[in-house]
Amino acid sequence: MRSQDHPRLRRRVRAILVAVLAVAAGSAAFAQMSAEIVPPLTGAGQPMEEVPAGPIPKWTVDDIRRMRAYPDQPPVIPHSIEGYQLSVNTNRCVSCHKREFTEGSGAPMISVTHYMTREGQMLADVSPRRYFCTACHVPQADTAPLIGNTFTDMSELGVGHAGDE
Ligand code: HEC
Ligand code: HEC
Repeated sequence: MRSQDHPRLRRRVRAILVAVLAVAAGSAAFAQMSAEIVPPLTGAGQPMEEVPAGPIPKWTVDDIRRMRAYPDQPPVIPHSIEGYQLSVNTNRCVSCHKREFTEGSGAPMISVTHYMTREGQMLADVSPRRYFCTACHVPQADTAPLIGNTFTDMSELGVGHAGDE
């Protein structure tokens, strides 16, 4: 049945052509997109171009607790953590921030949520999922932001505040 084979073959060739075109168009769009996104972040003219690294910025270590941008934000670390060991066996952070040690250290107590399991069960010690503090709490450095930010504080979105009147 040769006469029937030809249209089927032609259809298959057409399908392959359409797929090739789609991939080509997709990668062209991606290349354009990355050209737009990457240079502002790295300062390089071209994506993957090497530029000399800037000097390491100074950490902010003024001991002033920063306002949180929203109530559930992990507060940022306002002191130096240089050389503080944070490993499976040793956690320097808890030696000041754990409930039992806060009277001597003057550090704010690790939040009560850190003593709960995922299901809300209270534990006697910091929950394993909150053990590696720097997964969520980070120090700040005095440096220019890489890209602009349009974040708006939720209190500026027109909500009424309890106790305002
Ligand atoms: C020597 C004691 C000490 C150690 C060790 C320590 N901290 Fe602190 N931390 C403090 C004190 C005191 C404050 C209160 C602000 C200040 O004086 O810097 C504080 C503040 C903070 C805050 C800000 C809390 C808030 O509500 O704004 C965070 C977050 C924090 N520490 C995280 C850490 C992490 C993470 C580590 C370990 C890498 C750590 N700290 C190790 C004493 C300590
Ligand atoms: C999974 C993320 C996560 C990890 C890990 C984590 N925290 Fe937090 N932390 C938070 C968040 C979110 C908040 C603010 C909301 C809350 O209190 O739960 C917070 C709040 C805090 C506060 C402020 C408490 C207060 O009442 O002002 C301190 C201090 C703190 N954490 C210390 C620590 C220390 C020390 C560790 C390590 C032992 C740690 N955190 C690990 C997410 C985390």
